[in-house]
Amino acid sequence: MEETHYSVAIDGPSGAGKSTIARAVAERFGFRYVDTGAIYRTVGLAAKRVGCAMGDEAAVKALLSGLDVNIGYGVKGEQREYLNGEDVTELIRTPEISKRASDVSAMPCVRAFLLEMQRSLGRRMSVVMDGRDIGTVVLPDANIKIFLTANVERRAERRYRELREAGLPVSLEEVLRDIEARDEHDTKRAAAPLSVAPGAIVVDTSDLTLAESIEAVCGVVSAGLGAKA
Ligand code: DC
Repeated sequence: MEETHYSVAIDGPSGAGKSTIARAVAERFGFRYVDTGAIYRTVGLAAKRVGCAMGDEAAVKALLSGLDVNIGYGVKGEQREYLNGEDVTELIRTPEISKRASDVSAMPCVRAFLLEMQRSLGRRMSVVMDGRDIGTVVLPDANIKIFLTANVERRAERRYRELREAGLPVSLEEVLRDIEARDEHDTKRAAAPLSVAPGAIVVDTSDLTLAESIEAVCGVVSAGLGAKA
């Protein structure tokens, strides 16, 4: 008998806690966590390495034809990103690559290039997939769709703490400006802009701790699986 696969789509703006929460939810339900932002970051790194100018879609399009972007899972079950076979997991987390990822993710050629890869992951296994267009474009038939958000100040504080902990010398003002700029770019772009998918449940984590946010999302998933399983 064919195994049933479930899919949970989690979309939302930068710094809403998507990856931490999605990873915890995946673990709770025994699903694979798929971080699609990391895949866009990998393309952003590739564009930076070959010296594409920001916004130069023709150059990025030419680059894609020879590009091998893949994900795998490490010994602890963590997602790892590969660019032409090289493990770039640690190289894609800088503020510069955040900007590059936002830039390339607005390009229809990049979205088209990554679409089938993301969909096939959802077909092969039960997933909690997070991104910006998972419920709207990548997995429109996901069993459960969640839009995870928080106010911009709270998101900036969280991202600031993460970057400082990673040893990056950023200021809170800089992070806030970056998040506002990325919000603007991600919601206003023509190609798959960030929006609440039809049927998605909105979870606002502004006033929730991480543990409370995880419980809130797990509650939505349990209720949804109970109804659909
Ligand atoms: O979630 P993140 O910060 O790692 O995402 C990096 C960039 O990629 C961000 O600007 C939004 C974009 N992105 C996207 O357009 N679609 C996705 N499914 C995931 C990320």
